[in-house]
Amino acid sequence: MNKDRVLTGIRPTGFLHLGNYFGATRNFLAMQAAYECFVFVADWHSLTTHPDTSELRNSVRRVVAENIACGLNPDQVTLYVQSDVPEIAELYLYLNMMAYKGELEKTTTFKDKVRQHPDNVNAGLLTYPVLQAADILIHRAEKVPVGKDQEQHLEMARNFAQRFNYRYGQGETILPEPQAFNYSGGELVKILSLDGNGKMSKSENAMNTIYLADDDDLLRKKIMKAKTDQGPAEPNSPKPDYIENLFTLMRLVSSPDTVARFEADYAASSAGQVVIRYGDMKKQLAEDMVRFLQPIREKTNAMLADEQYLATVMRQGAEKARASASATLQAVRKAIGVKYY
Ligand code: ADP
Ligand code: TRP
Repeated sequence: MNKDRVLTGIRPTGFLHLGNYFGATRNFLAMQAAYECFVFVADWHSLTTHPDTSELRNSVRRVVAENIACGLNPDQVTLYVQSDVPEIAELYLYLNMMAYKGELEKTTTFKDKVRQHPDNVNAGLLTYPVLQAADILIHRAEKVPVGKDQEQHLEMARNFAQRFNYRYGQGETILPEPQAFNYSGGELVKILSLDGNGKMSKSENAMNTIYLADDDDLLRKKIMKAKTDQGPAEPNSPKPDYIENLFTLMRLVSSPDTVARFEADYAASSAGQVVIRYGDMKKQLAEDMVRFLQPIREKTNAMLADEQYLATVMRQGAEKARASASATLQAVRKAIGVKYY
């Protein structure tokens, strides 16, 4: 039986944090067996906003290592770096002829980035969604697990595929239209920043974001500083979102017994009788988080120290990705008619 193809790209612009792990990575791990998965590091995309490449090599190796340490199996999925697959750049060139200046200028992410970097509005930034469409269509991937912010890009990828098929397909679907995909069935967890202000993110203050790379002491320090209050005013009060966030994290890394104990303490607490001790809760959460993250961090560091291993993984991934990409590109060239002998 042919498995559906799922594809996702990760920009190498920062360390993985708990929000990325529980909101995206973990979900992808669950898909490895059920789908034919492609996961790649979008290094070309990062050049649109990060022209300084002094940290690029470290960042790319880190993304690969962290994903494997989290459980991505490079023998099962096709794990590669975008710039190792030149076929993507050629498809990007053809797709650029299907993309109109007006629609590119209207893209929300483009407008945001123009606002953020008014001094670097380059053509690569404008055509970012075209490159993303090439990433997806080069493997004829049907499913792309994306967050809300990427839905517009996916819709554009569908439009480019449709226009390509209409113009050159002669009734055939050369490039299938990819769909947004939510594997967990609508139950994606969202992790808030530890100060309760918005989602945990790499653009937040680093003390409010837990990185998979944080050492044990830093993890403890960050969790102990997480926002709490003096406790609920009434028994069975609804939880403020920063408290709910601590429970969410606890549900993800602690035992069900531990969670149940603190839930019960919370429900029984009121202004006159505060049973729940947030200090104890955070201490417990910190220890459980340390236990959870330690093996991931140690595996990541071991891989980063091993030049050979990561080089082999990237080389193998590139070979697999290029085989799939060149098959699509041949069909594309034939359909367009850029094939003369
Ligand atoms: P960041 O916000 O740190 O820049 P990205 O926007 O690169 O992260 O997101 C990469 C993936 O991680 C996306 O699938 C996104 O939905 C997920 N993600 C990021 N932050 C969170 C969070 N706080 N909670 C849940 N999922 C998140
Ligand atoms: N644009 C995506 C992001 O900002 C990264 C990305 C590049 C991607 N190419 C892709 C995601 C293809 C899915 C499919 O997160």
